[in-house]
Order: sequence, then structure tokens, then C-alpha cells
Amino acid sequence: MTPAPTPSTPPPAQPTFTRGVRIAGVGSALPERILSNADLEKIMDTSDEWIVQRTGIRERRIHDPKTGPSTTDLATEALQKALDRAGMVGSDLDLVLCATMTPDMPTPSVSCLVADRIGAGQIAAIDLNGACSGFVYAMNCAHDFIRIGSQTTIGVIGADLITRFVDYSTFGRAAAILFGDAAGACILQACDDTSKGLLAQAMHSDASRAKHLFIPCCERDFFDVEYDERRVNSVQMNGQAVFRFAVTTFPKLIEQTLESAGVQAGDVDHYICHQSNARILTAARDRFGLPEDRFHINIGSRGNTVAASIPLILDELTQSGRVKEGQKIMFLAFGAGLTWGSSLWQL
Ligand code: COA
Repeated sequence: MTPAPTPSTPPPAQPTFTRGVRIAGVGSALPERILSNADLEKIMDTSDEWIVQRTGIRERRIHDPKTGPSTTDLATEALQKALDRAGMVGSDLDLVLCATMTPDMPTPSVSCLVADRIGAGQIAAIDLNGACSGFVYAMNCAHDFIRIGSQTTIGVIGADLITRFVDYSTFGRAAAILFGDAAGACILQACDDTSKGLLAQAMHSDASRAKHLFIPCCERDFFDVEYDERRVNSVQMNGQAVFRFAVTTFPKLIEQTLESAGVQAGDVDHYICHQSNARILTAARDRFGLPEDRFHINIGSRGNTVAASIPLILDELTQSGRVKEGQKIMFLAFGAGLTWGSSLWQL
């Protein structure tokens, strides 16, 4: 007997939203102290030539362990600038969402402290740890909070003082040369124009590859990396494995995000990728044939600033008038976890 035809399931109804989401203000903050490749040559066995050739980095900003600034100091400064530029004050916010893997202490969170310092009152405050993908994760989550109507105005921050977890000896040199400290922030706000906001996004993780990039916090073997007391509290990285992951992930992520938004690579005005290594970034840029004024790289003077790297560039481009209303902008990141994600915006 012929089986009865299965009734076809109608596709799930797409929710219709009555609010758009706009980026109302952007800010960033850097420590004053500069650590150049020449400074590194004095404290470990390395050279300016080796570092520039492998990474494109010439200098980075770092905090001073005794005098600061702290993660909270940088996060507060960045968010306050973003509020000022949006013409807002702390009490206009409903939520502070801070992406960081280097809070000043396990608790209270950076976002709690920042909310208090900017005079936001007793609002929601959440820290989110997505390592270098943290800012992209935070933007995607904050967008959806606003889109569905649970919040109206959110301060999103990416802030890290990663150099607290760097071993500046020859033993730790492969990772030490990469990192710098910073914070960046933006204000997301509900608006009537429903075309503004996310066109597509992606968020992923895969801990089967966690061993390639992690910070052990106590004396035992983690994953299959042998215990050595010099590793405790310092970034452990299999540079080549991370490099391979990154050069394959960025192009795939760009392709998937464009496809789910139904747009072409050339339709996107700005690509802002997490700044991990200039070679990784130029490989992705060349693959899509994108010009330098659309695919941005500032790692030479900033290093890898973890969750802060994307909003740092966003702030540079916004203040110089290159990011404008009506444009499309894509954020892309990968990092420890391993984690990776994207966020494509209609401004
Ligand atoms: N200065 C000089 N020599 C160094 C060095 C340094 N800072 N760091 C490592 N070396 C040495 C190594 O000891 C090794 O020496 P050996 O051949 O005698 O054993 C040699 O240089 C090559 O090391 P390797 O690790 O293979 O170098 P690499 O070409 O892979 O470059 C990185 C190292 C870290 C620059 C590169 O792998 C990288 O950028 N990976 C991606 C990291 C990243 O993006 N991390 C952040 C993710 S969010």
C-alpha cells in the first residue's frame, strides 16, 4: 500500500519586529604607556624584524601593574566617551554589558563597577567572557535584547588588560609580543527605523581545540599541555594551530554571514576583524579582493587587545567620519575557547 503523503509542515513564521537598533555613540580608551618592539628586545630574546615580519606589530599600549589603569578604569572611560558622543548620560542606560576575560577581580563584575561609576543607578550589569570574540557576542546579544523589547538602551563594552597574563621572558615570548591593553564601547539604542540593526550574525565555540589557547590558573596539567610553573597565569598558545584556525575561519565566516544576509562582499562598506595578526588579516582581505579602506587593520600600533580590538577600530573610523549612517558594517572575531562569531549591521 502506498503510504499516505506526509502533510508538509509550514515554515515557522518569521517574527516581525517593531523596533530597529542603532549605534548611537562610540568611544575607546588606551593606557598611556607604550611597549615597543625595541623595549621587548631588552627583556627577552626577540627582534623587531622577527615580530614585524610574523605579526605586523610595532608597538602596543600596556597598563602599569602598580599605577594602572585597571580594566574598570579603561571600560569606564570608553563608555563615558560613547555616552557623551551619543548626547546621553549614565542614567539613560538600561544595561551595561561588558565583554572581558580579564576583570579586575572575580566579583564584582566590571560592568557592575562601571554602571556605578557612570551614575547609571541600579540597572542590569552583565560581564560576558567570549575571549577575543567577546565584543561580537555582546553586540549580538545586546541587539536582540533591544529588538525584542526587553531593553531600550545598552552600553556594550569590550575591555581587556590581557598583559596581566603575559610572561615577558623568553619562555613566553611567542604570546608576549602579540598583546596590548585597551577598551572600546558603544551605545545601542532602539529606534523607529526597523531596517537598522543586525542583518545576520553567527556565534560558535569548540572546546575540543581549547588547548591551543588558554590561561591555566593553577598547578596541574590542563588539556594535554604539561604542567610547568612558568605557564601558570600566563597565555599558553600553540601559535601555528591558532594561525591555521584563523586563516580558514575568517573567509568561511565572511562567506556564511554574507550568504545569510543575502548581500555581496562588495555591498559591505567596512569589515572590522579582531586584530590578531596582520598576516591572518591580509590573507582574508586578499581572498575577497577587498581594498584597504574597507578592510581595516590597526594592529601595528595597538597589538592584539582581545575584546577591545573591534570597538577600537570602530571608534577610529567613527571619529574620522568614515563610518556613516546607511552603511553596512561587518564585525568578525575568533579567539580562545575556541570561539568565533560575526555581526553584520545595517547602520
Ligand atoms: N622572537 C623570536 N623568536 C621567536 C619568538 C619571538 N617572539 N617567538 C617564537 N620564536 C621562535 C620559536 O622559538 C621558534 O624557534 P625554533 O624554530 O628554534 O624552535 C621559531 O621562532 C618559530 O616559532 P613558531 O611558533 O613556529 O613561529 P610562527 O611563525 O608560527 O610565529 C606567531 C609565531 C605566534 C607569531 C604565529 O604563530 C601567530 O601569529 N599565530 C597566531 C596567534 C594568534 O593570532 N593569537 C591570538 C588569537 S586571538
